[in-house]
Amino acid sequence: MCGIVAYLGQKQAYPILIKGLKRLEYRGYDSAGVALVDSEMAVYKCKGKVSDLEAHANGKNINGTIGIGHTRWATHGEPNDANAHPHYSESKKLVIIHNGIIENYASLKKEMIKRGHTFLSDTDTEVLVHLIEDIQEKEKVDLFEALRMALNEVIGAYAIVVMSKDDPNKLIAAKKGSPMVIGIGKDDFYIASDATPIVEYTKNVVYLEDEEIALLDRNEELKIFNIKNQSKTPYIQELELQLEAIEKGGYEHFMLKEIYEQPKSILDSMRGRINAAQGIVSLGGISDYETKMINAKRFIIVACGTSWHAGLVAEYLIEEYARIPVEVEYASEFRYRNPILNEDDVVIAISQSGETADTLAAIELAKSKGATIIGICNVVGSSIARATHAGSYTHAGPEIGVASTKAFTAQVTVLTLLALSLGKKKGTIPHSKFAQILSELESVPSKIETLLKKDNQIEYISEIFKNATNFLYLGRGCSFPVALEGALKLKEISYIHAEGYPAAEMKHGPIALIDAEMPVVVIATKGPSYEKVVSNIQEVKARKGKIIAIVTEGDVTVKEMADYSIEIPETDESLVPLISVIPLQLLSYYIAVMRGCNVDQPRNLAKSVTVE
Ligand code: M6R
Repeated sequence: MCGIVAYLGQKQAYPILIKGLKRLEYRGYDSAGVALVDSEMAVYKCKGKVSDLEAHANGKNINGTIGIGHTRWATHGEPNDANAHPHYSESKKLVIIHNGIIENYASLKKEMIKRGHTFLSDTDTEVLVHLIEDIQEKEKVDLFEALRMALNEVIGAYAIVVMSKDDPNKLIAAKKGSPMVIGIGKDDFYIASDATPIVEYTKNVVYLEDEEIALLDRNEELKIFNIKNQSKTPYIQELELQLEAIEKGGYEHFMLKEIYEQPKSILDSMRGRINAAQGIVSLGGISDYETKMINAKRFIIVACGTSWHAGLVAEYLIEEYARIPVEVEYASEFRYRNPILNEDDVVIAISQSGETADTLAAIELAKSKGATIIGICNVVGSSIARATHAGSYTHAGPEIGVASTKAFTAQVTVLTLLALSLGKKKGTIPHSKFAQILSELESVPSKIETLLKKDNQIEYISEIFKNATNFLYLGRGCSFPVALEGALKLKEISYIHAEGYPAAEMKHGPIALIDAEMPVVVIATKGPSYEKVVSNIQEVKARKGKIIAIVTEGDVTVKEMADYSIEIPETDESLVPLISVIPLQLLSYYIAVMRGCNVDQPRNLAKSVTVE
């Protein structure tokens, strides 16, 4: 979603803004812009990529040691030059950049039009900067006070930065519901939607809390107030993020780098949490809530997209090993259907970014009904991590590719540890099974290393199917969510229509689609439902569908039936998702590359979906 960068200091702002906007490209956007104050205020903005913005600004005055920059993901108004940020106030003395949605913008706009304001865009953002100036003029207050008063009038979510042509020594930033971080340099300040544009300049950051307003002055220390005008002491934290983690490191795309990082990221998710030799699993972050969880009447998992798929895998594992009933809900549906919840329920919220608006709203709803909320997040200090009672970080490292890969396997790893630890404490998992899964889990990273060596085989299969218009993915048990995840990966980055189904459901509808043109990816690894999946493959073959099978090393039966097969190392059935998803990620990656798609920033998609 939208990305914000701002700079105030001694250096030229423009190169810092452009570099920062490029670092934020992964969030997804459709237009970009900057505003700078030199002797005059200049705004450059256009539809398209940051490189288009650079071309647009080329040859113009880009001087100034104060500036704001933005990448916009369209909500109100189509992606075009006029709707791109920054937006001017009526007098053109103020400019604003904004991430979020001002829900009551229409009524505010109507009022201001009556008072003679003219608007140049269809955005809700432009209304906010007009409102700030309107209050400033009407109430005869300074910019900070006008902004504070305006924020008391708006409903919705925002991370904003406002700059004034008349005071090129100050930036004012505020946030509610959308993330914002301020970097404090030696003699300068940086503002961004996340730490990626800041990390190369300073490690000292302040994460703004909801309804806080930051006043950045070239000649003073950072000041923070809340929306009621009470002063707050800035809490300066040290960034753990390393620059290498957000660079491609020799890979052609972030997605490929992140697929290849999985042996390490899975290890990092387990690090310090398991000791197979001693039979220990401990998730420190939630230990205080373990008794509550063991005694819970049920778990409700809320998440979106890939994180929801990780939740579905967890449903199988938690029910199997901890014998606690689990429901898995789309956060967006859960939040609007007046769910029945009480104090005996534990809600588990899963999110890579920790900023997903629907998941955040589902958490707030569950909290208001007295449920205990456990978070499984990747981004440390994110809004969801802070909104939950307790949680475990997945430690996958920054995920830049829009298509989630290593975050999924890290989520599944942590959720597996959760199922095992609860099962052990409850006594619902046999000791031998517990020990076996634990030692298998430790060997998963090296098994993935081995599997990744076969990626030329997957590239070969991708070449054959790159022009397909539809794909079907089938799996049973905890391979069903993997089928869903494989289909999601393919559609989001290659724009091929794909559906995931439980293999047995195929005959209840999707079988009508099968003909000689239809590739069907089947997860047919060894396990209790192997024979059933074999029957499902027969049904596809009888209708001339093309089978791409994911099989266990040494498999004979399915390999003979399948048109193409990819062998994966054998593991315990409950850990298969961690391994079987890898070839599906690679298949979608190679197909997308061969189709010339923008793998890391697929069209219309955003990395963290901060609007509902
Ligand atoms: O950051 P979150 O895990 O909360 O994000 C949820 C979804 O938006 C995300 O998984 C999305 O589906 C990805 N593009 C999938 O690759």
